[in-house]
Order: sequence, then structure tokens, then C-alpha cells
Amino acid sequence: MTSQREKRGQLRLGGFFHPTGNHVAAWLHPDSQIDAGVNFRHYVQLAQIAERAKFDLIFVADTVATRDGNLEALKRWPQYMAFFDPTMLMAGIAASTEHIGLVATASATFNEPYNIARRFASLDLISNGRAGWNVVTSSQPAEAYNFGLKSMPPHAERYARAREFVEVCRGLWDSWDDDAFVRDRSSALYFDPHKLHYLRHEGKFFSVRGPLNVARPPQGHPVLANAGVSDTGREFAANFAEIVFTPLLTLQQAQSLYSDLKGRMEKYGRRPEHLKVMPGFNAVVGRTDEEAEELHQMLQARIHPDVGRQLLSTELGVDLSSYPVDGPLPYHLIDTTVAQRKMLVDRAKEGNLTIRQFYLQYAGARGQRTVKGSPQRIVDEMEEWFLKEGVDGFLVQPPYLPGGLQAFVDLVIPELRRRGLFRTEYEGRTLRENLGLPRPASRYQAAVAAE
Ligand SMILES: Cc1cc2nc3c(=O)[nH]c(=O)nc-3n(C[C@H](O)[C@H](O)[C@H](O)COP(=O)(O)O)c2cc1C
Repeated sequence: MTSQREKRGQLRLGGFFHPTGNHVAAWLHPDSQIDAGVNFRHYVQLAQIAERAKFDLIFVADTVATRDGNLEALKRWPQYMAFFDPTMLMAGIAASTEHIGLVATASATFNEPYNIARRFASLDLISNGRAGWNVVTSSQPAEAYNFGLKSMPPHAERYARAREFVEVCRGLWDSWDDDAFVRDRSSALYFDPHKLHYLRHEGKFFSVRGPLNVARPPQGHPVLANAGVSDTGREFAANFAEIVFTPLLTLQQAQSLYSDLKGRMEKYGRRPEHLKVMPGFNAVVGRTDEEAEELHQMLQARIHPDVGRQLLSTELGVDLSSYPVDGPLPYHLIDTTVAQRKMLVDRAKEGNLTIRQFYLQYAGARGQRTVKGSPQRIVDEMEEWFLKEGVDGFLVQPPYLPGGLQAFVDLVIPELRRRGLFRTEYEGRTLRENLGLPRPASRYQAAVAAE
């Protein structure tokens, strides 16, 4: 193991903070922060716990709508019904932290590139080089209804727009050379106009003249993240992403995605180590296996059947509210052309699961991998996945917050360090430096260098 470990170095850790925690019944845990979605101090506390433990980054998700569905069920499941805009939240957290990366989600379907380029350049400056953008194409019809549409644009079109969107943002971030601002009082010269560039982008989706009204971000470009599952999503990730959060259930699946993604990068002129695979990791930690199981069962027992059915309805795109929980899923109604849905349906079929059994299995980690147990058991799994090239790290999603994060930090981090798998100090100043990612050269300087 030691020689493999030396070869692989140390793993990367992010904290994925769903408001009250990852488990659907997290808000019913007596120690969870009940108003988490709109409690700023709660997020600051989480970021500071993660930073003390030297996590690479924290991550928050986003949709530009409340969740849609049966209100009889949603009234018992407050997650993502009322929550902060992620970039605003991260800008606030930036002021109370110094090292940790701040990765916020923003949709390429329901924004314009100029706004997003500006927002993330601002976050990178405000945080001194710690900003990351999780590029999503959005998937909930409820989001479309807030932007003048009757339905979501097709998947392929959303990705085509996202590709152009990211290209425009990258161009806008290069608007000013790194040394464009001279700010010299003696010569009364504020900036060098030769170091200011107009993008003049004319594409299928966007027409953007530029330049951006923010200086080039400290990281050159904020770190780009993505969680594509589909073939188009993977291609997008291979082209642009520097972190990938795609959910993975088995080591074999992880290894296959890992080599697939990294193998696709060469044609975009990228090196495999410049993309970090960090899937969601739902760690239910106890001092012993029994204690972890007790916590898990306590949360599972609090899932209301209406909530369980609603959870699956959303994921599978069918209304299950009138189906008995102890019967099978109505497979014939589920559209399995969506990659993620097909994965779920295959799992339910393989296990011959009732709706209740399926939601109980699915609810804890919402389709992502759950590992329960003592720190040793959890680290055994993390170590195996890491050493066998299934992942570069993990996006830890505590089942409830803040207690679940504190338990991970108190119990799992020391065990990771004992095995030499995780840092004791930040290596660099920016998120890029800590993740071992290169700082992109400006396209204009790269062009000069190539001449
Ligand atoms: C860890 C993780 C976080 C995600 N966060 C968001 C999010 O905040 N907003 C969103 O619209 N989609 C989010 N997604 C969904 C993905 O962006 C993506 O749409 C999904 O994985 C399906 O892949 P595909 O778009 O390639 O089909 C997330 C997925 C994962 C695994």
C-alpha cells in the first residue's frame, strides 16, 4: 500500500452543505440547524469548521426555483424551499475565512455569461483567489417557469448553450491582462489600454462585446466544476471542468468514469491531472459501527412516506403520490432516456424493490454512495477508492448539520492523517494552488507567447 500511496499523494476534500444536511429527514434531527437555508451564521460556522480541518473547498448547490411537487409532501421536506443565492452566500463567507475554496453553483441555462463572469470574477477578488463555479445546465421544469418558458430546453441544447457560455466567460475573464492596471499617480496613468481586450463574441446563443468591468481574477479564471453524468456531460467536463462531482456508487463505476473522463481530455489539449474527480460521499460517522448505524436508523425512521414518494417522484419524473408504498414502481411511466433515471430504475429492478424499500435506500444520500461506520471503516473505503484510481478525493455530504460535519472532522480527519492521506496544512494561497491546478494564461498572452 505504501508505494501506491506515495505515487497517489494526498486526497482532496470538499464539504457539500445541503442546508440542514444531506438526509431528507435532516431537519428532524434534534441537533440540526432548523432554519439553515436562510441562516448565514450557520454557513459561516460550517465553513470555519471545514477550514480548521483544511478542507480544499466547500460547495453549495442551486436551482433557480423552489422545489415543485405535492405541497402535502413538501410541507414536511423544507430542503431547498427557501435558501440563499450561492454567490452572495460565498461572498459573505469569504470575509470570515482565509484559505478554504468557495465553490458556488450557477446555471448556464438561466443566466447570461456577462453577469456570471462578473459575479465569479468578483467572488475571486473578494476571496483572494478562492472562487469556483459549478456549471450546471439545470433540470427542473420549475426553473423554466421562472424564465418565460413552458418547459426546459432539450438536454443537448442546454449543453450546447453551456459550452458557448463557458467560452464567453473565459474570454471575458481575460478582458484585462494581469498587469493592465498601472495605477501610477506620478504619470496620471491608471491602466494601459493595450492590455484591455474586447471579446467581440458572436455565436449561436450569445453576442457579447466586452470587456468585463472587473479586473482579471487572482486565479486567472475561477476553478470550474461540473457533475455531468450523460455522455454530453462527460464531454463537457473533459473540455472544461477542473473538478467533477459526478455521483458514483461502486468502485468499478468510479474507475471506469475516472479513466473515461481523463482519457477524453487529451483532445482538448488538457492533462489528466488537471481534472479532479471528487464524487459526493455521504459519510454517516460514529465512534463505532453501531453508533453510526443508530444515527442512520434514527434519520431513516423520520422519513414520512409522503416525503419518500415525493423524493422518488422528483427524481424519476412521475407522480407517485397515488401509488401504494409497499408496491412496485410504475416502471412503464418512467422515461429512462435520462441517464441518471436509467441508473436508478436499473437499481430498483435489480433489487426487486417496493417504493418504500427504494426510497429508504435512496433517501439517505439521494442516490449517492452512503458509507456508515467507525472512522476506520470509512477511511478504509476512502483509501481503497483513492489508491485504486477511482477518485482524486471526495465531496463530503454530512447527513445532518452542523453535527455531522463536526463528527467527520473529529473522527475521520485524524484517521486520514494517520494514514498519510490528508494534509495538515494548506499548501498554497488560492484554491487552484491547493488543488494542484495550473493558473490559466490569458488567451491574449498565450497568443503573444505562441508568435
Ligand atoms: C454533487 C452534485 C451536485 C449537483 N448540483 C447541482 C445543482 O446545484 N444544480 C443543478 O441544477 N444540478 C446539480 N447537479 C446535477 C448535475 O449538474 C447534472 O445535471 C446531473 O448530474 C446529470 O448529468 P447530465 O446533465 O450530464 O445528464 C448536481 C449533481 C451532483 C452529482
